Amino acid sequence: MSLTHTGGAPACRILAIETSCDETAAAVVADGRHVLSNRVASQIEIHRRFGGVYPEVASRQHVLAIQTVVEDALADASVAHVRDLDAIAVTHGPGLAGSLLVGVNLAKGLAFASGLPLVPVNHLEGHIYSNWLYTDTSPDIARKQRSSSASEQFPALILIVSGGHTELVLMEDHCRYRHLGATLDDAAGEAFDKVARLLELGYPGGPAIQAAAEAGDARRFHLPRPLMRPGRRTERQPDAQTSPPPAVLPVRGEHRFNFSFSGLKTAVLNLMRQLEREGTDARQKQTAADIAAAFQMAVVDVLVGKTADAANEFAVKQVCICGGVSANGLLRRTAEQHFAVMGLPLRCPPLFLCTDNAAMIGAAAYYRRSYSAARQRAPQDRAHRQPAEAGAHPTPRDQPIEPSARDLLALDVYASLPLVDTTGL
Ligand code: KG4
Ligand code: ZN
Repeated sequence: MSLTHTGGAPACRILAIETSCDETAAAVVADGRHVLSNRVASQIEIHRRFGGVYPEVASRQHVLAIQTVVEDALADASVAHVRDLDAIAVTHGPGLAGSLLVGVNLAKGLAFASGLPLVPVNHLEGHIYSNWLYTDTSPDIARKQRSSSASEQFPALILIVSGGHTELVLMEDHCRYRHLGATLDDAAGEAFDKVARLLELGYPGGPAIQAAAEAGDARRFHLPRPLMRPGRRTERQPDAQTSPPPAVLPVRGEHRFNFSFSGLKTAVLNLMRQLEREGTDARQKQTAADIAAAFQMAVVDVLVGKTADAANEFAVKQVCICGGVSANGLLRRTAEQHFAVMGLPLRCPPLFLCTDNAAMIGAAAYYRRSYSAARQRAPQDRAHRQPAEAGAHPTPRDQPIEPSARDLLALDVYASLPLVDTTGL
């Protein structure tokens, strides 16, 4: 494949592997932006019967699927030999130990055999970089996507909402993050999954709640907005398809940018028990749909309300929402409406890049390797901060390959996002 930068330099192509949970994924990404291939073998059907991810089954399934998934990703990108690529990236945490091991060991083997550098990637950083990926191969689109309207604008506010994490992060530059807040208990996706289980709507809970809520009346039941306080409803009239602008404001003080969803799940349980006491079957189709709609709207109010508050506080230039829950239609519509009123550009990945995939890992690997190494080499040189176009980026190819990196890569099961110091916030 003769993909080139606009300047004619060869593209930097990275094979990425992701096996942190229950998706076996491989992708080839050019210049950290352009998805040349993206294969995901989902285990959803297998875990559905358990109502959640069964870790040992997940890792065994990765073992069965990974070789085909990687071969297919290489073939889709017309890569004949791994050595024709520039680097191999792999998720090394956070995630399930047995699942991560499968991807990491394969990546190590490929790197060892091909002599390519191996780039360990933090899964959360992968979700962040899913925001700037594009898939169209036509040169015009590629050029347009690289233009400033599609590019990163810093500082950017990132909301990561997945099955394991709910984090608000201030992204000051490539690979430079300050932590603003996180969930104190359940992640947003976890709450969707647990409430779906209570209502017997199926697995995974997010899409199941969303589907049920479509036929529901979100105003039949009132559920709490945890770590928010009452606010004034704005004048805009909500339509049937959109959550009203949050009538709640984030609490002040230490939990201003933190989240809590465990109490909301308990509120659903208490509501169901109360309905049962009153002789109403909470799992009856319409009642379950109404509860699902009320729950979904409560989560969206909190997510959008807190993100908007942080966007104001830190005067960001862009807002990005990523992770599995960012596939939620109500969240996307409400955020779109809210940030349009605030005059802030909003980015959400296309639906197929919201949930776990390897393309996002290839993107994060490109930027981490390029920008961290460039900073180490020349901390006084800030020119790399605002490259005019993708071709101006320092690339992994420019970096010396440390042979020991292949041997040193270890799992980091509890990894959190690599942060800059948080003083001065
Ligand atoms: O990012 P992801 O694929 O895996 C983790 O890194 O955790 O996120 C999976 C989570 C699950 O909890 C799933 O229920 C949720 O994302 N999810 C959704 C939707 N699609 C997936 N939540 C709400 N609405 C959706 N449409
Ligand atoms: Zn994820």
